Amino acid sequence: MTMPQQTTEQSEIWKKRRRLFETSLNPFPEYRILRESDPLSYDEERKWWEVYRYQDVQCIINDYATFSSERLLKDQDFRRQVDEQEEFAPSILNLDPPRHRKLRSLITQAFTPRAVAQMTPRITTIVHEQLDTVASTGHMDVIENLSYPLPVIVIAEMLGIPSEQRAQFKRWSDDVLSPDEEKPRQTLKEMNNYFRPVIAERRVAPGDDLISALVAAEVDGEKLTEPELLSFCVILLIAGNITTTNLIGNAILCFDDHPQVMDELRADPSLMPSAVEEVLRYLSPVQRLVRVAAVDTLIGDKQIKEGQIVVPCLGSANRDETQFPDPDVFDIRRTPNRHLAFGHSIHFCIGAPLARLETKIALEVMLQRFTDIQRVRDIPLETVSGFLGVKSLPITFREK
Ligand code: HEM
Repeated sequence: MTMPQQTTEQSEIWKKRRRLFETSLNPFPEYRILRESDPLSYDEERKWWEVYRYQDVQCIINDYATFSSERLLKDQDFRRQVDEQEEFAPSILNLDPPRHRKLRSLITQAFTPRAVAQMTPRITTIVHEQLDTVASTGHMDVIENLSYPLPVIVIAEMLGIPSEQRAQFKRWSDDVLSPDEEKPRQTLKEMNNYFRPVIAERRVAPGDDLISALVAAEVDGEKLTEPELLSFCVILLIAGNITTTNLIGNAILCFDDHPQVMDELRADPSLMPSAVEEVLRYLSPVQRLVRVAAVDTLIGDKQIKEGQIVVPCLGSANRDETQFPDPDVFDIRRTPNRHLAFGHSIHFCIGAPLARLETKIALEVMLQRFTDIQRVRDIPLETVSGFLGVKSLPITFREK
């Protein structure tokens, strides 16, 4: 089958769409149009398929044999992002079974809801310490003062590295996702140079931290190689931080648009876990995943060719009216709420219990300590790139 050809007019539509998807906090009306009119769209310029309906998105993520995460790395452009001299191991995100299952089994224990629940007192202390720095002023930037430092401090402590270097970690997180050709490669190199001596040190003097546990871990009687260890450290430091930062910020954006929700949560804090789920659905920090077709296949009536890139749009699936009644209503009591914000199936987010707990505690403590929380509306929101979220979120409040 030949690929659909795009006319100039269609190409202009795609350009506009991409700009909207990359820069707007409200791509949802456009997703709705696409779910109805073109749920499997081929972007001729980028040469990939975008998938908008819940059911198709879920099928693609479930069918990891047909839609591979590993094949992306066979893409030469991607490989060029890392230094050719640097020995490089794909992160767990870019592996298919059987290697994926083996690596995943090493790390899941550290992130079970039970293991993570033990971190409640420490996370609560960190949130209080962050809010202490701004409480008496009556204003703060949710991102700078709370939602950025919190996950970074937590993961740095889990890895056993000094959280004081978090400005550096933030720069790495930003730069590794930069569209610039050189920056991601340079950053990965810098991160490897940072973690290499830490790993060497833990080999000699293991501690009670995740890096020491990974150094000691074995898969089928074999230890992880140094590139595999490095790529684990990098993914843990980066994957969880930007996403959790955006989730907490997005929760405040939702609450600010629905101020009655803050009163309801103060009156009944047991609603907080389902409120966090609703934020995940309503403003999902990760809007898109990427897969590569491992064989020729069909989605609906569309023929997907082996090697073609397929982009399941989680953000659209999470607003699909066939799965969620009144999908554009923010309903903190929504049940069931089978959103796909953490993915699904074998790559389901390892850090989900941690992200949920950090977000729940951050919001609970904010609502306990502050009233009259309001976004400073005369400062325009600036979106982050690559995720759905904002760079900065100034609010005012009254200390209780
Ligand atoms: C709100 C916060 C978060 C969101 C929305 C999120 C989202 C996701 C999504 C959608 C995936 C699936 C990717 C795919 O299928 O290709 C994923 C995987 C992953 N996430 Fe998260 N994540 C969050 C927080 C975290 C945290 C806190 C950590 C760890 C500290 C983490 C570590 C990982 C890892 C290691 C994977 C790869 C799992 C695998 O390939 O088996 N994430 N995440």
